[in-house]
Amino acid sequence: MLSNPLRVAVAGLGNVGVGVVKILEKHKELIADRAGREIVITTVCARNKNVDRGIDLSSYEWVDDATQLADMDNVDIVIELIGGEDGVALMSAKNTLNNSKSFVTANKAMIAHHGCELADMAQKNDVALRFEAAVAGGIPIIKAIGEGLAANELNLVYGIMNGTTNYMLSQMEARGLSYTDILAETEELGYLEADPALDLDGIDAAHKLAILSSVAFGTKTDFDNIHIEGIRNIETVDIEYAKELGYRIKLLGITKYEDGNLSQRVHPVMIDRNLPIAGVMDGFNAIVVDGDFIDRTFYQGRGAGEGPTASAVVADIIDIARGHKGPAFFKPTEKLVAANPVSINQRLGEYYIRLHVQDEAGVIADITASLTLANVSVKTMLQKGNERDGTVYVIMLTHDIRETAMKDALNRINELPSVIETPLSIRIEKL
Ligand code: HSE
Repeated sequence: MLSNPLRVAVAGLGNVGVGVVKILEKHKELIADRAGREIVITTVCARNKNVDRGIDLSSYEWVDDATQLADMDNVDIVIELIGGEDGVALMSAKNTLNNSKSFVTANKAMIAHHGCELADMAQKNDVALRFEAAVAGGIPIIKAIGEGLAANELNLVYGIMNGTTNYMLSQMEARGLSYTDILAETEELGYLEADPALDLDGIDAAHKLAILSSVAFGTKTDFDNIHIEGIRNIETVDIEYAKELGYRIKLLGITKYEDGNLSQRVHPVMIDRNLPIAGVMDGFNAIVVDGDFIDRTFYQGRGAGEGPTASAVVADIIDIARGHKGPAFFKPTEKLVAANPVSINQRLGEYYIRLHVQDEAGVIADITASLTLANVSVKTMLQKGNERDGTVYVIMLTHDIRETAMKDALNRINELPSVIETPLSIRIEKL
């Protein structure tokens, strides 16, 4: 057993930081046995000391400024749970790694944007950079991909990477709530990120997808080329039609890599209701990874919250205590490939299209003419009138068409005088 304890500084004392302290205190002996040495918190850090965090932090040294931690003699590794793409978190990461100390973070935005640069710093200074908690909370997906599946060539990873929007879609279906109503409720429950757009517009899921692409395929993180759409346009009517048609709507992150070409996208999809991932409801996350020797693997668990996220952080600390400092993306940084981004416009597949139109003669003929001009072939059409207001939803499922043809069709249809709401399309994915 190594005799020297690993001395840890925890920066950021929100619920995850508090969770890390609780786990390291509660499982002190169990963790020491597993890590082969003791792990002790020496220092904690947050901006405001005078907050009741529900735990006693008086035995730890208090520091207000996270950027100082890297220089402290009684700190071997820094745990950053502050968040934010850059600012203090990034400064703290750079100081720590350049001081030849290992760095653990749950910061998805920072790793999605600066992961390669930080991995390079860690490599040059012969220390570890770890971010298991940045993706899918309590699901050890980074370890599963980078270690458990290391024998495989991977080319597809997809999943539910944002618990908040999965909760919202689940509740819309279960309780027939409108988007506006579930949004208000989710806000009240405190489930949304400080900037709700991160959840609602798919950005949070895209941060996680960018990280998973690099871990799975050994490509450089490329957040800027992810096609991102959120759930703001999904309405109860779409959820009901999805059900009627045998589908369920999910916000998925999908990344595919083939022959140097990387397709990364986050958007609502309609998937077969009977797929295991379609049954993952509420705040849960789920990830599917396909490998050439393993076939398909499926991981499910809590994607957020104090316990699950802190569990992932502590697993990284244990790894470092064991002396593991292999490359952050499981390949030396000079081997990470700059992949060619594949545009969403190249997608070939089926689409669900929802039109809200006046219920009057000639409307369907006009819609059909627009579809013909855009070269879009329809597989199924449903129409349900609303006698009260004289409008009707026209729902169409297309055959396999190009994304560009779908957009062309929707633009043409949107110009028709009888169309009373911007048409919506949802990609149907066969996964
Ligand atoms: N807002 C994130 C989610 C938190 O809902 O999944 C966990 O990353």
